Amino acid sequence: MFDGSSGLFYCKNCWDSFSAVNQNAEIGYHVPPPPDATFTRQVITRCVSLLVDAISLKWATNDVLDLCCGGSVVRKWMKNGTMRYLGVDCNPEAVKKIENLIKNPATKELSGDMRYNVICEDAFSPDLMQKITEIHPRQFHVISCFSAFHRAFASEEIVRTFIGSVANALVPGGLFVGFFVDANVAFSNGTEFSNTVFSTQWDKDAKPRFGNTFKLSIEGGPFHSINVVSVDYLIDVAVNFNLSIVPEACQTLLDFIEKDKNFTKVLNDDEREYLCVLRSFVFRKNSEEKVAK
Ligand SMILES: C[S@@+](CC[C@H](N)C(=O)[O-])C[C@H]1O[C@@H](n2cnc3c(N)ncnc32)[C@H](O)[C@@H]1O
Repeated sequence: MFDGSSGLFYCKNCWDSFSAVNQNAEIGYHVPPPPDATFTRQVITRCVSLLVDAISLKWATNDVLDLCCGGSVVRKWMKNGTMRYLGVDCNPEAVKKIENLIKNPATKELSGDMRYNVICEDAFSPDLMQKITEIHPRQFHVISCFSAFHRAFASEEIVRTFIGSVANALVPGGLFVGFFVDANVAFSNGTEFSNTVFSTQWDKDAKPRFGNTFKLSIEGGPFHSINVVSVDYLIDVAVNFNLSIVPEACQTLLDFIEKDKNFTKVLNDDEREYLCVLRSFVFRKNSEEKVAK
């Protein structure tokens, strides 16, 4: 049913207010990292804030689904003035911490009509979106995945189901945003690489192609197996589900930090190398709110 006068799917006033950028967003706010946060945690948290600012200036960000939300990034969405937020994390302790942040009146970041929830679920399970619909029936302006995105690349079936359900859960014009480890850059460092920030290891026949894995250790921590996120494959699947890449928002985390005039720490070569391995992605769901005359 189209609105007779405007030719839009929704009436023009509804559509304009629904898809408006958020005038109350506190652009430039950076979530303070916890006192014990490592370099990598601090810099990723900062880049999340920078990416949220970049999208918030241009697109609607009022309904947000934050996958793998553990940490303090929820505070950035609060300061962004996002009215509806649903976080998903598989770690009950991380969920508890976010619930406390949401409830804590001392933060004074949540105004009366803002609704924030967090649930304990695997972000990549095939029935997640069904469960989410029961809690949050509307579609989202933004779906974010700043961590663990590689888990969607465990198999072709998982990645297709995941990207398909993300696309389905977005409003037309909605955004799917996140960070991932760029396997091509990691592979170009050699099959055994180590500096003071991170180390990578590749099996003899492994390649930076879909279906392969490599091992990553951050700041001396244990090695974790990482599925290769193949950019070509990601774009191919995304296009199939009506998502278009937003090229200007896809950059390395080093690009984010170098453009941030308020970031005063001088990075050493090892830190710069780490920030080159991490990359942002932004997809936008194609919007056809105008109908043919
Ligand atoms: C390092 S934290 C930080 C994430 C946060 N969005 C940020 O950038 O500050 C990563 C979170 O992802 C969560 N996580 C990892 N795999 C997950 C999965 N399959 N489903 C849901 N949460 C997951 C972890 O429990 C952890 O809380």
